[in-house]
Formats: sequence, C-alpha cells, structure tokens
Amino acid sequence: MTSEYSGYVGVFDSGVGGISVLKELVRALPNENFVFYGDSANAPYGEKTRDQVLRRSRDIVDFLLNKGAKAIVIACNTATSAAAPTLRNDYAHVPIIGVEPALKPATLVDENKRILVMATPITLRLDKYQQLAEKWGTGREVIDAPCPGLAARIERGHLEDHDVVSLLEQLVGGYRGEVDAVVLGCTHYSFVAQQILQVLGDVRLYDGALGTARQLERKLAERGLLTKSSGAGVVKFLSSKDTPEEIELYQSFYSM
Ligand code: DGL
Repeated sequence: MTSEYSGYVGVFDSGVGGISVLKELVRALPNENFVFYGDSANAPYGEKTRDQVLRRSRDIVDFLLNKGAKAIVIACNTATSAAAPTLRNDYAHVPIIGVEPALKPATLVDENKRILVMATPITLRLDKYQQLAEKWGTGREVIDAPCPGLAARIERGHLEDHDVVSLLEQLVGGYRGEVDAVVLGCTHYSFVAQQILQVLGDVRLYDGALGTARQLERKLAERGLLTKSSGAGVVKFLSSKDTPEEIELYQSFYSM
C-alpha cells in the first residue's frame, strides 16, 4: 500500500464538475492538501443506474484511501444521492462529506417563491432529493428541471461556444420570467452560471459548494484531522481518462 497522498483530502466527481467544489474547499481550507479525482472516462453519472454510480464511487474511494487520503469529499450530487450512506457505513473510520442541492439556503430567502432545481435525472429521482424537497419546499413552488446532456456537454470544455446557451434554452428556457431562484443541483452547472443567467434572466443562483466546505472543516476539526501546516497546501489532479490533455482541461476549469 502506497501512501502517496497521505494526509490529503480526496475529492471526486464524475468529471470536471467537482472542481467547482474543490475551489471552494481550497478557499475555506488553504493549508490543506487536496487530491482531485475526476471519473471522466465514465461520465456522465447522471444518466446511469444507482448501482453503477455506487460501484464507481466505491472503487474511487478505495483508490483514494489506499493512497492515504484522510477524508473524502463526494463533489457530486448524483454520487452523494446514490452512494453516500453506503460508503459512510463501509468506511466508518473516515469522514465522508457529500454535496446536496442547495434548496435549504434558497428557501431561507423570502422573495424566493418559485425555485427551479436543475440537476441530473437520477439526483431528482432518488430519495435523498425527494426528502430534501419535502423538508424545505413547504410554502414554495419547487420545480424540478432534469438536465440530461448538460453535464456531458460541460465535460467537453469550450463553454463560451454558442451551443451551450442553445442547450440551456432547450432545457430551461421555458422558465424565463417564471422563477425567482435557481438551485444548481449538479456541480458541473456552476461552470455555466453566466450562461444560465443569460437564459433565465434576473434570478438568484445557489450551489452547494460553500455548505460542503463548511461541513468538511467541521468534520476534520471533530476528528482532530485539520492540518497543522501553516503553508499553502497543494492540489493534485487525477483522472480515469489518464491523458495529459485531460489534466490540462481540469487545470483550466480550476483557474476559471
Ligand atoms: N457533477 C455531478 C453532479 O453533481 C454529476 C454529473 C454527471 O456526471 O451526470 O451531479
């Protein structure tokens, strides 16, 4: 067993989306070391079955723990919904933090009467989201907007190309003027926040990255796992699509 990433926080997603969460984690915990694993060879997760996503998630967590990671962040709403309870049960000795659609913060603002939740089809179908909507949706109109194809398009980069806006028009353009807030319930979507505003107009956007960063800090502190280093941490990128171009793509998302 190698401990190449001993003391690192392991972060994973189906692909580039989790880098939006990673950026928030680094902002909140700048002295920690992070290793990010994108499963781009198997993306998107959002149109797979729950079992397929669970299997991939378990393999990635095994891999990161074998390399010495001290905690895991599932930087993916889909994998959190499909796999987090099982993984927490199987790896009880390690803090495993997930991400969930930021419906709660959206409902804490009175003006948000109509809230659109953009997410992958599987996230919206699974119990975790159904329970969240039941808990926080009271007194609001919560509209589910499954966005098949959007994460896969974001994986390819070149987000300034016009087809991204066209796809968003198709998926959610009908809600322009109809909603006050939009929950970005897939970590990929944060990278097209500007294009979503372009399509939907004046809406408030919410994503789960900040909540996840706070939760990671709490969990590391509880278990005495926060780094003692006062120097800047490092960030490493790994991908199941193991090519230099893919790692360059990740770095370009990281610097967006
Ligand atoms: N980024 C992921 C999420 O937050 C998954 C997107 C996908 O692979 O379909 O749901």
